[in-house]
Amino acid sequence: MKLFRPASINQLSLKNRIVRSATWEGMCDAEGQPTARLIDLYRQLVTGGVGLLISGYSYVRADGKQLAGKMGMDQDRLIPALQKLTTAVHQAGGKTFCQLVHAGGLATVAAPLAPSSLAEKPNVRAMTPQDIAAIVSAFASAAARAQGAGFDGVQLHGAHGYLINQFLSPLTNQRQDEYGGSLENRTRFLSEVYQAVRAAVGPDYPVTIKLTASDNIDGGFMLADALTVAGQLDSWGIDAIEVSSGTGAAGDLTPARQKIDSPAQEAYNAAHARAIKQVVKAPVMTVGGIRSPQLAEDLLVRGDADFVAMSRPLIREPDLANQWQADFSHRATCISCNGCFRPGLKEGGIRCVLA
Ligand SMILES: Cc1cc2nc3c(=O)[nH]c(=O)nc-3n(C[C@H](O)[C@H](O)[C@H](O)COP(=O)(O)O)c2cc1C
Repeated sequence: MKLFRPASINQLSLKNRIVRSATWEGMCDAEGQPTARLIDLYRQLVTGGVGLLISGYSYVRADGKQLAGKMGMDQDRLIPALQKLTTAVHQAGGKTFCQLVHAGGLATVAAPLAPSSLAEKPNVRAMTPQDIAAIVSAFASAAARAQGAGFDGVQLHGAHGYLINQFLSPLTNQRQDEYGGSLENRTRFLSEVYQAVRAAVGPDYPVTIKLTASDNIDGGFMLADALTVAGQLDSWGIDAIEVSSGTGAAGDLTPARQKIDSPAQEAYNAAHARAIKQVVKAPVMTVGGIRSPQLAEDLLVRGDADFVAMSRPLIREPDLANQWQADFSHRATCISCNGCFRPGLKEGGIRCVLA
């Protein structure tokens, strides 16, 4: 099975091609430090067989924080607590990337920063060129911190309507300066973030991205745009691209779609991943609705993607990769109800709410 064959990202060897996609767990304290509960969960996921564990979205600056219990990557004093997490992963034989985010206009602060002010969100403040430079540099410092804390790589969050996606999308980027307007201009913020992060961590450290293939909203960022951006990222030296789609405003087509009841509804971003894979050399991951091992294997064999990534199935069954290896007919038992979010907000950590 290709799923269980080793693969590499930059110079990092991974034991298989099953990835835990970034998942906010709500298990960090108010400072952004991982709790013992998060460390236990990461141990379970690694012993459960995932080849790569991508952390929940971690804020590069305090004003980029969104949900409670999110991991912080904004201060050096967090490093000892973060090292406990990465050490636990490594002792269990795993590899972990840190997902870096600034939530931009979706941050839960009094006056969130965003590319443009928006009529529907009066409290949002349009970023000045100085704000842009400061956040670019916050991404670079956070990446260096993740490296120092023992993460095996980083993933820039370039999807799901957060700041990088806000710059890419004409719906949220109505700037008149060199950061807005044409696709080239809307990509400038991402370009600056990537270059600064790469300079901070060096050429041999995996720098990857979760890229939106489409906002799934009329007038938004579209696959044609994503193909151009993916090609650019590839030419700059990105080490892997995880292909997602949708934002919280995309109706039924949000990043975590519901009602994945049959194989026909599975792998709902795979066609986009395939299209992107055709224009890049970097390894491509597909995420979204993957539930059946045979389907996951077919995605790799057909060349739609090089890795399959999952979030919700691993909340319910952290040992799903091992289960698949033991029994290839075992379909994930997650029903995609998204009930896992609520305990993250109310009980200090996500969990599957099904019996
Ligand atoms: C509880 C929860 C938290 C999530 N947190 C993140 C996150 O921090 N970063 C991210 O890129 N995606 C996040 N996602 C989206 C998932 O990574 C994934 O893209 C989406 O759920 C579709 O994959 P799935 O069908 O395997 O769940 C989250 C999803 C869930 C259900």
